[in-house]
Parts: sequence; structure tokens; C-alpha cells
Amino acid sequence: MNQYSAKEIWEMDKKHFIHPYTDFSSFSDEGSQVVSEANGMYIIDSDDNKYLDGIAGLWCVNIGHGRKEMAEVIAEQVLKMQYYNPFGHSSNEPGSILAAKLAELAPGDLNHVFYTTGGSTAVDSAIRLVHFYNNVRGKNNKKQIISRNNAYHGSTYVAANLTGIHATKNSFDRVADNWINHISAADMFHRPSGAENLNETEYCNFLVNEFENRIIQLGEENVAAFIAEPLMGAGGVLVAPTGYHKAMYDICKKYDVLYIADEVVTSFGRLGHFFASETVYDMQPDIIITAKGISSGYIPLGAAIISDRIYEVISKPQCEGGLLSIGYTYSGHPVACAAALKNIEIIESENLCEHVQEVGPYFQDKMKTLSNLKIFGDSRGSHLMLGLEFVADNETLEPLPIEADIGNRIFESCRKLGLIVRPLGNIIVLSPPLIISKEQIDSMVEIIRKSMEQTIEDLKFEEFCS
Ligand SMILES: Cc1ncc(COP(=O)(O)O)c(C=O)c1O
Repeated sequence: MNQYSAKEIWEMDKKHFIHPYTDFSSFSDEGSQVVSEANGMYIIDSDDNKYLDGIAGLWCVNIGHGRKEMAEVIAEQVLKMQYYNPFGHSSNEPGSILAAKLAELAPGDLNHVFYTTGGSTAVDSAIRLVHFYNNVRGKNNKKQIISRNNAYHGSTYVAANLTGIHATKNSFDRVADNWINHISAADMFHRPSGAENLNETEYCNFLVNEFENRIIQLGEENVAAFIAEPLMGAGGVLVAPTGYHKAMYDICKKYDVLYIADEVVTSFGRLGHFFASETVYDMQPDIIITAKGISSGYIPLGAAIISDRIYEVISKPQCEGGLLSIGYTYSGHPVACAAALKNIEIIESENLCEHVQEVGPYFQDKMKTLSNLKIFGDSRGSHLMLGLEFVADNETLEPLPIEADIGNRIFESCRKLGLIVRPLGNIIVLSPPLIISKEQIDSMVEIIRKSMEQTIEDLKFEEFCS
């Protein structure tokens, strides 16, 4: 398909491709691993090495790689009608059918879909719509958004500032500091100070009180929305105490604050359901943000799904000639929507949600069998979302110093053994395609065990742990 050698492509990449989240301290020497083929649970790089994909691309290839049905439906739609303007009153067939399907799958009265090109743009659009909603209601001061430390909401300017992984903002300018706020992450493993020794219920109350106090401090007339991932992903797969989301939702309702559930990772089967908010966390948000698994990464697509109540307000005619002036050239792109419809059909016909309900707990339990290894700190998550945190000593839970570079070491070691994991500081993240079998889970865990054993030897040698 191309006339270039693997080395030439590697060089073009190194010279010209600015990658998201590049570490330039190593990129200038090492360049990138170029992935050239992918099939089912596996990827193959341009040097012909084959790997088990432990991260579904980037939490997104839910139905697995290289599916012929997806290629066919995409080709059919390209040949039938590849693109036409979605603005104003112009539409396309797959966009309309998918919107109805999403309304059917989403909980309660989340019946209206605003399409975007990915997760960040969906977050950004949702915030603009929330502000617009309050303007139309005459609540012009109700603009404050409450997010959480360690949250990840994307990389557009607003989404990046809603993100609570504050190191990602180093040397970047901050915007909207006067209306974006962060409260504590809901994180059972690392507690904020004052909450170290609380039991689960007390800790939940502690977090909910912090939220309510922040609303009171900001003034309920000024607070527009709370945004949260049901299970924090990129922030370290942080699990909230039981009952947290429902309790936060109840506080939102008490103060007329909208609850935005960022389900970019947790939707489309990763937690065993199309959406996790209601089925797993017992609450119906006002807005759900989705992307990634909606099209399993075959084509970019994102959406903000909003409630009847919000729609009723924002769909009132503004004034003569007044428009709801928000949207993208590729909102509801017909090829992306056709791909998403096929993706949903595959998830349904292959019972992938039910499959995840079966293999998910197996995956979580299996990873805990590594707990006897010295650097095992915590294994946490739900279903096919898992974070494995490393420490210097599994009894004292003393953290490893940054110089130990533990996440990257485990990543490299797993890669040599044929498994891709995602390093994030002291943890590795795993989010395999939903089609994973129990045997493949076993081999993943075995590779991670070997990598941890090897790393323990190396760390002893380098005196990071005794
Ligand atoms: C929870 C969450 N929200 C938003 C985003 C941003 O999505 P995208 O990268 O498609 O813009 C991500 C990406 O990882 C995410 O994990």
C-alpha cells in the first residue's frame, strides 16, 4: 500500500508528526513504535512484532481490530453518500437513525444527541450548551463548573482546563480559572488529607460534603454543572466509594446544578452496559458525554446526549433569525454514524455487554493474584477497566520514587513479552477490547507477573527497593 520502508516511515514520523502527549526527552532518540496491522485482540508493528492489545488502542477498540463488517459498512456509506452539510435543516440517514438509537440506549429522558468529532469536543460543546441553557433561563450568573482533581476531560482549551491532572497544564496557559473549579477526586486508594482513616461510608460523606460546601461557597445561583467520569480513567483508574455518584447527583438536584457524566471511556460496554451511569451507578445524569467505543475507534465520533428538560429550554426559538450557533462541519458525519450503528449492532448481536459482565470480574480477580509480589500496591477498577499501582513494598505501601520510572519499566518489559499496557506514572492501565477471552486474560496476567518479577530484580539492583 505504500512504497516506503519501515525505517523511512519511522524517520518521517520522528521528523514531522507531533504526537499527543509526546515525551520529547526520549522521542528525539527513540521515535515511535509504528503500528501497521491490527486484527481482533492483536496489533503488529512495522518490524513484524505481534502484541496482545491490552488497551484497546486507547480505551476505544471495543469490538476488536480489523473487522470486515465495519470496513464494508464504511465503504457502502462512502459510495452511497460520504458527506453532506449537517447545518441548519440538512441531515443524513445514518446520523438520524443513530440519534434515535442513542436515545433508546441512553437512560431516562436523555433523548437528544449533539454530535461532535470526539470526546474533548463533546465536553466543550456540553459546557457551551449548559451556559447557553442558563442564559436562556435568565440565570446569567449560573456559570461555575465543578470538576475534580485527577479527572481527564480532554484536550480542547476548556476540556483541558476541566481536567484535574494538573501536571498536564505545566507551561500551558490556563483559561476559565474564574469559572472552573476542582474538588477532591473520589479515590479509595489515595485519600485527601483528613479522610485517611474513614470507612467507606464516612469517606463518601466526606466527599459529598466537600461538594455541597463548594456549591454553598460559590453560591448556588452561580453553579451551573458538575462534571465527572463514573470511573476515573486517565487519572489512574480511581474507584469512588459505593453510593458516591448517586449522592453527588442528589446534591446537584438540591441546588439546580446539572450533572454531566463523562462516559467517554465507560460507555459502549466497557463496564458491561451501553452506559454505566444508571445501570452501574444508579443515577440518570442530565448530560452524557460519549466517544471512543461509540465507533470502536474505526472512525472519529463523539456526542453529548442531553435530557428533554435541557432540550426544551435550548430549542425555544430565540428571536427572529436567532440560531443555536454551535456545531462542526463533521457533526453527525454519515460515515462515522454508519460505522457507529454497525458497531452497536455487533455489540448487541455478539452479546458483548453480557460477555464483559462475565469476563470482567474474572479479569479483576485474576489481577489480584499478583498481590504477593513486592511491588504490588493496588489493583482496582471495574470489568474491563483496570489500574495496577506499584509501590516499593506491598506491606507498608511505601511509594516508589519517580526515578524508579516504574510504569515505563513495566510497559517496556510487557512489550518485550508481547503485551501492550499503558504506563501512567506509578501505575499501568489495562482496558482490552471487549472480545477478550479468559485464556487471553490469563496470558496477560502471566506476562505482567513475569514483568513484575523481572522489575523487582532490576529495582533491587538499582536499590529502589530492598
Ligand atoms: C473521560 C474522557 N473524557 C474525554 C476524553 C477526550 O476524548 P478525545 O481524546 O476523543 O477528545 C477522554 C480521552 O481519553 C476521556 O478519557
